[in-house]
Amino acid sequence: MAVLTPAEGSHNIDEEWKEGEPFHWERVHPEFTWYETGKVNMTYECVDRHVEQGRGEKKALWYFSEHEEQSWTYLDLQKEVNRWANVLKNHGVGKGDFVFVFLPKHPHCHVAMLAAVKIGAVVGPLFEAFMEEAVRDRIKDCDGEYLITSSEFLDRVPKKELPSLGTIFVTDDHVEGYVSITSEAKKEKEEAMTEWVDLNDGLNIHYTSGSTGKPKGIIHAHRVMIQQYQTGRWVLDLKEDDIYWCTAHPGWVTGTVYGVFAPLLNGVTTVIHGGRFSAEAWYDVIEKAGVSVWYSAPTAYRMLKSAGEDVRRRYDLTSLRHLLSVGEPLNPEVIYWAQEAFGLRVHDTWWMTETGAQLIANLPTRNIKPGSMGRPIPGVEAAVLDEEGQERPRGEVGHLAIRADWPAIMKEVWKNEEKYASYFPHGEEWYIAGDLAIMDEDGYVFFQGRSDDMINASGERIGPFEVESKLLEHEAVAEAGVVGKPDEVRGEIVKAFITLTPTYVANEELLEELRLFVKRRLAAHAAPKEIEVMEELPKTQISGKILRRKLKERDRVGG
Ligand code: WT7
Repeated sequence: MAVLTPAEGSHNIDEEWKEGEPFHWERVHPEFTWYETGKVNMTYECVDRHVEQGRGEKKALWYFSEHEEQSWTYLDLQKEVNRWANVLKNHGVGKGDFVFVFLPKHPHCHVAMLAAVKIGAVVGPLFEAFMEEAVRDRIKDCDGEYLITSSEFLDRVPKKELPSLGTIFVTDDHVEGYVSITSEAKKEKEEAMTEWVDLNDGLNIHYTSGSTGKPKGIIHAHRVMIQQYQTGRWVLDLKEDDIYWCTAHPGWVTGTVYGVFAPLLNGVTTVIHGGRFSAEAWYDVIEKAGVSVWYSAPTAYRMLKSAGEDVRRRYDLTSLRHLLSVGEPLNPEVIYWAQEAFGLRVHDTWWMTETGAQLIANLPTRNIKPGSMGRPIPGVEAAVLDEEGQERPRGEVGHLAIRADWPAIMKEVWKNEEKYASYFPHGEEWYIAGDLAIMDEDGYVFFQGRSDDMINASGERIGPFEVESKLLEHEAVAEAGVVGKPDEVRGEIVKAFITLTPTYVANEELLEELRLFVKRRLAAHAAPKEIEVMEELPKTQISGKILRRKLKERDRVGG
């Protein structure tokens, strides 16, 4: 098997850890106030600490969009976070309250999240492309009390259906009936009280899909900072002068952890790009900002690849020194392309919303076996287990498991102990990821697929149940089974098999209407790219459950 060796160069991990040496997370504790005082706050560690230590003039955020560019020093960020924190406090936000943030990729999104966290609230970032019902389901599930959004998003906030929602803040100057957080902030002091919390107090909530039921609220605690800081240092290899860009929106856990917290914990400059993917725009940002460390997803790499060499050659991309990927299987051919295109390897990383930080990764100074996600990082033990929870021999496929605990593991699934317990079917020792994998003799882990019906389209995790339920709300749909269909660029696409109610006939117009129905109500990424109308759907004989597995097979064989 091909093995790609690392290039020469100095990297954080080499100076701090030798292969085979034990590593205990306690080693990271002295980095944080907790070590001295027993209390912490993520925002303090991300922002205030840097100002106190003389890095106030350093650039913290660097924002690019089609129309403008902004840069924020750590001091600018601190002052604005404090002002917003004061406004939130004035409106009654307190420790443990849920504050949802529904904003585009913009420094305001960072400020809103950090301000809420500063005063001890639990922040719930929502993906910018969510439609009304996705927004409603999430806020409703945990009776969210506060929302920070912008006027352009208000038509997707179904206020009337959200009785728990007290105050809605907007980031515009004047919108009738809403609190303008930006204008109130102008009148506030640049200082704010930090709510010192325990390591295990709630920090954020991310909703994530399962194969049954609505998305579940995964809550993380402030203790994630231990692992988020350390993986930022060793896996992202962040150093003093890095210009770092993570392309994910904070509504996805990658965008929160590695787009907001980890880079700020490490005191680097974070690039934010507002707007959609385009090869030109993205290369342009890399060139303009001089991005050195880049964290993205296989779909993005594949899209850059297919945009062609001519486009790429128009930009100076020599600032790049470390490339990373997450979210879906990284094809070896993408790694080979990146070697040609940038002279760099792409370092795959594996983790999940529930895990709170990277667990398996290709460290910057270790060999890469293309097709493998890498090895468990120092301090993490992984195994491949059979159905009974016994370890499988190396080289054989089974369920990917991680030995509990690690610092960033979720604190709880909101109001759902049963769901939390389902990750530990063989007892507390092993967390079962829901992924199938093979571990080779050298400890490299190879992803083999999901063990459940989850769909992974462009790195976005989509629960089939949510899409099926939505389709069923349309009067033309009698039954629906939704699966992931393999796709060259996106990894998988959402495909729906449906049967129709008596008065409807299948035609392109109806199928388009159904696609839009899901898109407008749920989210664009969840809308089925393909819909196939069937006479009947395959079902289990006893319970009559739709057999998604059969649909999937059918799709592979018959098209
Ligand atoms: C699922 C988790 C937090 C990361 C972003 C997605 C899949 C994740 C990889 C990888 C193959 C991967 C798994 C996992 N996944 N990383 N490097 N190679 N598959 O977080 O939405 O919670 O999804 O994404 O199936 O279980 P998520």
